[in-house]
Amino acid sequence: MNTEWWRDAVIYQVYPRSFADSDGDGTGDLPGIRSRLPYLRSLGVDAVWLSPFYASPQADGGYDVSDYRAVDPRYGTLDDARALISSAHELGLKIIADIVPNHSSDQHEWFQQALAEGPGSPMRSRYHFLPGRGPDGSEPPNDWDSIFGGPAWTRVPDGEWYLHLFAPEQPDFNWNSPEVAAEFLDILRFWLDLGIDGFRIDVAHGLVKAEGLPSIGHSDQLHLLGNDVMPFFDQDGVHEIYRTWRKVLSDYPGRIFVAEAWTPTVARSANYVRPDELHQAFNFEYLDTAWDAAALRKVIDSSLDAMRPVGAPATWVLSNHDVTRHATRFANPPGSGTQIRTPGDRALGLRRARAATLLMLALPGSAYVYQGEELGLPDVTDLPDEVRQDPSFHRANGQDGFRDGCRVPLPWTRTGTSYGFGDGGSWLPQPDSWGELSVEAQTGVEGSTLELYRSALKIRRETPGLGAGDAVTWHDEAPAGVLWFERSGFVCTVNTTKEPVRIAAPGDVLLSSSGPMPVTDGAADLPGDTTVWWQI
Ligand code: NOJ
Repeated sequence: MNTEWWRDAVIYQVYPRSFADSDGDGTGDLPGIRSRLPYLRSLGVDAVWLSPFYASPQADGGYDVSDYRAVDPRYGTLDDARALISSAHELGLKIIADIVPNHSSDQHEWFQQALAEGPGSPMRSRYHFLPGRGPDGSEPPNDWDSIFGGPAWTRVPDGEWYLHLFAPEQPDFNWNSPEVAAEFLDILRFWLDLGIDGFRIDVAHGLVKAEGLPSIGHSDQLHLLGNDVMPFFDQDGVHEIYRTWRKVLSDYPGRIFVAEAWTPTVARSANYVRPDELHQAFNFEYLDTAWDAAALRKVIDSSLDAMRPVGAPATWVLSNHDVTRHATRFANPPGSGTQIRTPGDRALGLRRARAATLLMLALPGSAYVYQGEELGLPDVTDLPDEVRQDPSFHRANGQDGFRDGCRVPLPWTRTGTSYGFGDGGSWLPQPDSWGELSVEAQTGVEGSTLELYRSALKIRRETPGLGAGDAVTWHDEAPAGVLWFERSGFVCTVNTTKEPVRIAAPGDVLLSSSGPMPVTDGAADLPGDTTVWWQI
């Protein structure tokens, strides 16, 4: 068994609610995913990460879990999960589950017991319950803001307050409680025994809060996130937890942990992937980088430099279920952020998205692909407010939280109810353009984004110089605006400018993100916003 498969794996993220609906209720489900595994196999990915499918009231799209050992009936049953895992394994695909240890749902049995048993009860110590400030305790215990807007505390009828870094329906666990720690070790084993190949750890940086839960003394805290160490994020104590988690895996060779860890620097992310902790951490700094050669080179170097000393692979990601799809980010001016409501220049966005993908897949380490990016899907920026379900949209009074735009169900066929997503419509409305972007419309069509991904993943698999590694060799004479690097037997050139740039051909063209590119007399015009892979 290759227990190091994750060092260069391409991991495809499925958002179960929006992938494929087998029973026509308008919501995707596990049997739907299972029926599409051959598609993922033929796409050429190595593993599938499933966003949460556990029992959940869906206050935050399943990131509010009410039973960690049950499948939500909307998504199927435990037997469906078993069948999905075993079909994936038959096809040579790994399955990674999301685990949500920072908070539960307010409908979780433990939280309901904590509410019922009242102040001072042992059940309350599993969460953060505290009296309020002020003479009558009517002020929250500290000044922390929720990531979704508003205070991070909600008062219960007996007068105590509980902490929720996200929505009020997502109370934070108290990781000082030995029962919480023991419960999660048991949950990990439950899913590992069922055959899961790994876990993506939600809010991995949030479990431990600074001693005494000190106030921050600053309003507008959301803008500090990612720049400073906050008393509720990236506290050193989290690492002890992951050391105990890692020990569990010694009984399950080849299984992995991936951290969703938002840290002020990529160097701090490396702390999560030290040899006795987790295996990978998402590289959000890369996701946030503008389409600009100098900025990209800087983040690529700093990412590789940060991971090298701990021996973990760098990871690369452009899209996920929390951010505006990259085809739309690149269609908008740099600095527009990751919650964008304007479609921008769609053709430009798609062209850059395709180039960005070939760059990402040429870098050393592991890459993440979010469902639908292989179809070049744009974000759906014009969803009516009344269909939006992102809790942060409602808590921020419609000024933030546009994550539904990247969660619109996938189009599989040109026509038909919900473009082949399912027989009973789709929980979010799909745009008219979805048919032309469907899997059916792009399959076998030369130059389509789907075929570009298929070709790239095939070449990546077959080219020894691609995949795992911890360094690239930059070609310092590259023209301005062009990224040019070499790996063993392979060169990647990226023109981030709009204009073509003449270059000396370093070898034979393997693939170009914008269609065939002629090479004459050893030179080529590298088209604008294009990545070309070369064999040397
Ligand atoms: C990160 C998840 O990716 C996001 O979707 C969720 O809202 C928060 N964590 C809270 O669980």
